[in-house]
Amino acid sequence: MTQPRLDPWLICADDYPEDGYSSDQLEFLLGYGILAPSNHNAQPWLFRLHVSEVDVIADRRRALRIIDPADRELTLSCGSVLFNLRVAAEYFGHQCGIQILPQRDDPNLMARVHLGLKADTPAEDVVLFHAIQQRRTSRHPFQPEPLPDECLAALAGAAESEGAWLHLFTEESPRMEVADLVAEADRIQWADRHFREEMSRWIRPRSDPALDGIPVHDLGIRDWLSFAGPLLVRTFDRGDGQAARDRDIAMHSPVLAVLGTNADDCASWLAAGQALEHVLLKAQSENVTASFLSQPVEIPALRARLTEMTGRAGFAQVLLRLGCAPAVSPAPRRPLRAMVIQQSHSHG
Ligand SMILES: Cc1cc2nc3c(=O)[nH]c(=O)nc-3n(C[C@H](O)[C@H](O)[C@H](O)COP(=O)(O)O)c2cc1C
Repeated sequence: MTQPRLDPWLICADDYPEDGYSSDQLEFLLGYGILAPSNHNAQPWLFRLHVSEVDVIADRRRALRIIDPADRELTLSCGSVLFNLRVAAEYFGHQCGIQILPQRDDPNLMARVHLGLKADTPAEDVVLFHAIQQRRTSRHPFQPEPLPDECLAALAGAAESEGAWLHLFTEESPRMEVADLVAEADRIQWADRHFREEMSRWIRPRSDPALDGIPVHDLGIRDWLSFAGPLLVRTFDRGDGQAARDRDIAMHSPVLAVLGTNADDCASWLAAGQALEHVLLKAQSENVTASFLSQPVEIPALRARLTEMTGRAGFAQVLLRLGCAPAVSPAPRRPLRAMVIQQSHSHG
């Protein structure tokens, strides 16, 4: 194997083991699963391979206890992995069955994915499949031009097809209101020493070879300070500065979008995660970039206000901004072997 292939982002569809065992095929498909987004790029998932099934398991050792005490966002990330798995399985011509929370007595087992019979690939899956490797979170400002209505309708449709809803704020006045809420959340979070400590543990200075977390240069911390990034984050309440920056960036994004669900339990979070990745891949396929502004969703009182602003019944799960932006480099991923729980092999 050549060196570049070791980067999970460079997975190549030509290497799919067409004539291999189901378990080998599933293992290959997991390579697409792990390109899903996760907060702080914690990659909080594990996999257990069976003959023609794979278990997707929450890795709670990678939980973000301060910003995500109920593991809601962690569960959402596992849901996004499921969506990638489904699209990849269908792309390679397999039906894909997903059983959500299959074992009541095992809350860590998020889903069991079954590789089924051969089937034709829906045309939309080809497009979504190619977007998996292109998708990036970009924290740069977006161009202010509005997005076409058909594109927005397609994004809302993507969320709905997974049992979630997507509320779009395109007018200036509601976008400003949401931007103010983001700024308020920034001030609250940054004033909390525990928040800063947790965040600092996931920031990677330029020289750090870690394959998880967020590279410091992606956060807009200046180069000459980047070696000290985690220390800066831990030590100083940058709340006002962060609030001003995020407010500005949110306000000038052409679309702010709340992805929500009607209920707020584990199954709904898994559905929201699948809806999230469907929306992100659909956006990517239309050359639209997304970025997250999760701060208000992470503070219960602000989350309720954000939901109220949508005028919908239910629960805000994710706040996104959408627009066009220059390409950014991919965030690192750990190798798949670090996430597969080994067990005795029996091929079928
Ligand atoms: C549920 C969830 C919440 C997130 N919240 C934020 C956020 O508030 N701010 C941010 O910059 N990125 C956020 N992200 C994006 C992650 O940081 C990003 O997915 C990760 O760094 C991997 O990068 P990638 O999306 O480019 O693959 C979030 C991702 C998920 C799945």
